[in-house]
Order: sequence, then C-alpha cells, then structure tokens
Amino acid sequence: MNIVLFGPPGAGKGTQAKELTKHYNIPHISTGDILRANVREGTNLGIKAKEYMDKGELVPDEVLIGIIRDRLQLSDCKDGYMLDGYPRTLPQAEALKEILENINKPLEVVLNIDVPDKELIDRLSGRRTCSCGESYHLMFNPPLDEGTCGACGGKLYQRDDDREDVVRQRLEIYAAKTMPLIDYYNNRGILVNIDGTGSVEDVFKQIRDVLDPYRK
Ligand code: AP5
Repeated sequence: MNIVLFGPPGAGKGTQAKELTKHYNIPHISTGDILRANVREGTNLGIKAKEYMDKGELVPDEVLIGIIRDRLQLSDCKDGYMLDGYPRTLPQAEALKEILENINKPLEVVLNIDVPDKELIDRLSGRRTCSCGESYHLMFNPPLDEGTCGACGGKLYQRDDDREDVVRQRLEIYAAKTMPLIDYYNNRGILVNIDGTGSVEDVFKQIRDVLDPYRK
C-alpha cells in the first residue's frame, strides 16, 4: 500500500498516521519528525532546518528530496509506505515520481485531509508534543496528567512553530506552495478527499474505508 497523507498543518496527518501504520503494518515516514529528530540531535541538517522551521517556512527542496530518496530505499518500505508532510511543492512531487519509478513502487492513493483554517489554528495552538512522538491537545485530547506524556512520562512542550503568528505563516505557505498539488494529484486520478473535521475515530474510519480495498 503506497500512500501520501496530505493536508494543511494541523489537519491530523500525524494523529491518523499513528493508528494507520499499526493497522496496515507499513512505515510512517514523516519529514517533519525526521527534521525534528535532526534538530534535537544537533546535526548539520538539523541546525540548517531549524532556521526555516521556526519561522514556519519550508526547508529547501533539495534537502527534502535527498531525505526521501534515502528513506524509501530502506527495507521496511518493501510492502508499502505512508508519507506524511511530503511532497509539499511541485519540484518535490516531480522528484518523488522519479524516485518511485526507479524503485517500482508507484503511489496508489493521496488522502487529502480537509479542515477549515479557523479549526487548524485552534488545533495547533492547543497542541502539546512529547519528544517520543506522542501529541496531545489541551481540549480535544488532553493528557491524563497535565504537562506529562501518558506514553513515556516525558515533559510535554509547545512546538516553536505552533505559536499563532508562525501557524498563520505556515497556512499561507501551504496555500501558496502546497495546495497546487491537490490539482496535480487529482489530474492523475489518485486524490481522495477526507473530511477531517469529525472526531479522530470518525476520520480514521473514513480513511480505512478508502484504504481497505488496497490491502494486499
Ligand atoms: P510537519 O511536522 O510536517 O508539520 P505540518 O504538516 O505542518 O503538520 P503538523 O504536524 O503540524 O500537523 P498534523 O497534520 O500532523 O496534525 P496533528 O495530527 O499533529 O512540518 C513541520 C515543518 O518542517 C514545516 O513547517 C517545514 O518547515 C518543515 N518541513 C517538513 N516537511 C517538509 C517538506 N516536505 N518540505 C519542506 N519543509 C518541510 O494534529 C494537530 C492537533 O490537532 C493535535 O493537537 C491533535 O491532537 C489534534 N487533532 C488531530 N485530529 C483531530 C480531530 N479529528 N479532532 C480534534 N483534534 C484533532
């Protein structure tokens, strides 16, 4: 099963991917998570990426294309993959097409999770994250113990790019650079729209209804 989870910042891509990766047993490849791991580890890539991420801007295409090219070669992608946060620009989409042709794993479905801007801002400003990868929301999915991750006991924090001014910048960049990919994939007949405004469980069910026929 070869999938892209597409949608604006805060649409719920990471939340859904966590369950989908277990359900379908395919790796979840989040470029945001890969970049944040590099920032935490202080790698050269992380130091460079942080400058862009903290301002809500996109990290340059050539960096992301290299990351994805390497990641898709790993053996855990042999039965499929779930990309989250990539592609975000036309050059990234064109590069992906070429990479996937070379490894003979063409995209089957692009799930476009749709949520209005007002709700995206509420979701991102209330999000609290743990370095283990868990994510919570102060109202919609609160941690049992305030400030503490229920999965690992780590301290929850607010991502620098979840401040409202940065969120607005991310949404502008999404509209200008990433939204055109909706037409790009629609024209290829592989785009499926998902209403992302329901509960996490409702959205998960909608996605499963779309993906189950692709299960091998
Ligand atoms: P990235 O980490 O990819 O961020 P994003 O796409 O902006 O997505 P988010 O993680 O913010 O949101 P999400 O859709 O995963 O929502 P979530 O499930 O957490 O990228 C970060 C940065 O890295 C970029 O700005 C850029 O700088 C750089 N970058 C990454 N990839 C790049 C690329 N390809 N090219 C260039 N630069 C790149 O949910 C959000 C909140 O809502 C949570 O609190 C959650 O609990 C809550 N929630 C989820 N679902 C629901 C629901 N159904 N109802 C109510 N609340 C919900």
